[in-house]
Amino acid sequence: MIWLIGSKGMLGSEIARQLTEKHISWVGSDRDVDISDPQALLNFADSHDTSAGCTGRTASNGKVPEKITWVINCAAYTAVDKAESDAELAKILNEDGPRNIARATRKIGAKLIHISTDYVFDGTGSVPYTETMEKKPLGVYGVTKAAGEDAVEKEMTQYYILRTAWLYGFDGKNFVYTMTKLMNDRDALNVVSDQKGTPTCAMDLAAAIIKIIETSDKAPGLFGKKSAIPYGVYHFTNLGETTWFEFARRIYELGKRFGRIQSDCSVNPCTTEEYPTPAKRPAYSVLDKSKIQNALRIKIPSWEESLEKFIKSPRFEIK
Ligand SMILES: NC(=O)c1ccc[n+]([C@@H]2O[C@H](COP(=O)([O-])OP(=O)(O)OC[C@H]3O[C@@H](n4cnc5c(N)ncnc54)[C@H](OP(=O)(O)O)[C@@H]3O)[C@@H](O)[C@H]2O)c1
Repeated sequence: MIWLIGSKGMLGSEIARQLTEKHISWVGSDRDVDISDPQALLNFADSHDTSAGCTGRTASNGKVPEKITWVINCAAYTAVDKAESDAELAKILNEDGPRNIARATRKIGAKLIHISTDYVFDGTGSVPYTETMEKKPLGVYGVTKAAGEDAVEKEMTQYYILRTAWLYGFDGKNFVYTMTKLMNDRDALNVVSDQKGTPTCAMDLAAAIIKIIETSDKAPGLFGKKSAIPYGVYHFTNLGETTWFEFARRIYELGKRFGRIQSDCSVNPCTTEEYPTPAKRPAYSVLDKSKIQNALRIKIPSWEESLEKFIKSPRFEIK
C-alpha cells in the first residue's frame, strides 16, 4: 500500500486520482497528519502498517490493514514569495518535514518518493541542469527545499527525490489558471520574458511517479535489496523550454481556441526588473531529463502537447 502525504494538494490530488483509477491501494494524509510532528507521522504509520507490530490486527472497517511499502511526499511549504518573510515555517515544512517523513518511512521499512524543485539551483547556467550539478538556491524556498533533500539523503538509502518545475494541475492554484483568469478580466498583461524553464503538467509527473513504483515492484532486484530503478535524485518536467511570456502566449492561444478565454487580451513581454517579486527566481532552470527517461524508458510529452491536453480537458476548472 502507498501512503500519500499531501494528498489534497495540487500534485497529491492528481496522484490520488491516478492511483484510484489504476486500483492501486493507497491511503492519504494532509494537514490532518502534520509533517512537522514526528509522533503524528509515526502514529499514522503504525495505525496503517502491518509491519509496525500490528500484523493481523483488524481495523475498524473490519479489514486487516495492509503493509505500507511506499511513501510519497507531496506536502511542502510552496508559497515562494511568502517564504521570504516566513522562513521559520518554510524550514519546518520543507526541511524538518521531509526529515520526519524519512525517519518514519525508514522505521516501517518502506521506500520514499520525495518531491523537490528546480529552485535548488541558482539559474545562472545555460545548459539543462543535471542531477549531480551543485545546488545553489537563491531564496528561502529553495534553501529549505535543498535542505529537505539533504535530510532525506542523510536519513535513508531507499529514496527517490524528484525535482520538478513550473508545475500546474487541475486541483490547485497555478500559472495556467491565473493567466486564464487575468486574460478574461484584463485588456493587457505583461509577463516576464527573461526567465527560462519548462512547464510541467501534474498528470505527467503523477504518471512517472506511479511508473517508478510499478517498475520497482515488478522487478525488485536482487533479493529485493536493490531496486530495478536505482535510488537517488531524478529530474522530471515536460520536454522543451520556454519563458513565462511564451508560456502565457500559448495559454492565451489555446484558451481562445478551446473556449476558456472569451475576451481579447494583449500579452506583452516584460523583464524581471520590471516585475519585482520578494523572492529572486532562477533566470534559467531547465532540467535535464535523460536520467529518468532512461531509467523508466518513457517518452515525456512536450510542454506544448501537455498544455493543450490540460486546457482541453473537461477537468479544467479555475481554482
Ligand atoms: N507548484 C509548483 O510550481 C512546484 C514547482 C516545483 C516543485 N514543486 C514541489 O512539488 C510538490 C507538490 O507541490 P504542490 O504545488 O502540489 O503543493 P500544494 O498544492 O501546496 O500541496 C501541498 C499540500 O501539503 C499540505 N500541507 C501544508 N502544510 C502541511 C503540514 N504541516 N502537514 C501536512 N500537510 C501539509 C497543504 O495543505 P494546505 O493547502 O492547507 O496548505 C497541501 O495540501 C512540493 O514538494 C513542491 O515543493 C512545486
